[in-house]
Amino acid sequence: MHASVKLKGTALPAAAVEVRPLARDMSTARLLAQMQRRIYPKAMQEDARAILSVLASTDLSRGLFADGELVGYALFQRDGEGTIYLYDIAILPHLQRRGLGTKLAQAALAAAWRRRLKVRMHVRATSYPLFVNRDKLRAAAYRLVRNKFVRDFYFKEFGIHEDAHELVMKPLVRRPLIAARVG
Ligand SMILES: CC(C)(COP(=O)(O)OP(=O)(O)OC[C@H]1O[C@@H](n2cnc3c(N)ncnc32)[C@H](O)[C@@H]1OP(=O)(O)O)[C@@H](O)C(=O)NCCC(=O)NCCS
Repeated sequence: MHASVKLKGTALPAAAVEVRPLARDMSTARLLAQMQRRIYPKAMQEDARAILSVLASTDLSRGLFADGELVGYALFQRDGEGTIYLYDIAILPHLQRRGLGTKLAQAALAAAWRRRLKVRMHVRATSYPLFVNRDKLRAAAYRLVRNKFVRDFYFKEFGIHEDAHELVMKPLVRRPLIAARVG
């Protein structure tokens, strides 16, 4: 029997799940825009051109593929010297809560670790647990150095009353236990 990726919901064979770099082109940006329409409330959805400008800013963004199909993404944005900003992370709704977000987050961090980048992000309640668990972070060779509650963070940009946490994590000296490319 194959090992499986499953915490809750229906199991996915581990062999069918892969994390790899996202192409930085318009067709990928369109795909991400389509995914956002399935994942986010309307006010939080972006058009493909806006997504492409983020995608084009760095080669660190990663896609999570199940049976070759893109089902999740971690989108990084170029930031200041020595730092990268995690702009968005998402998994298609029917595949959430099975550990895939954790796997993707760890692989994305492991990719950033290879350049010894500090990682900055604002997280909603949905993705907060992916990045504040000490063991999950340590496996990706990061540690949290800032965790600040930001009331109503999403109002300015999206007109939605939703809070966020600003997180900053620093790379550890030792290597990640998990690979940047997982397959
Ligand atoms: C955030 C997201 C990527 C997490 O992916 P996922 O595959 O569901 O995450 P995991 O299965 O690895 O879950 C990790 C932990 O996150 C928490 N979590 C995930 N989804 C949650 C939800 N809907 N409500 C509350 N907690 C949730 C849980 O603590 C979970 O651990 P548990 O399953 O042991 O309880 C996914 O829920 C998503 O795409 N959400 C919509 C988009 C979004 O809000 N992105 C964040 C932008 S900052």
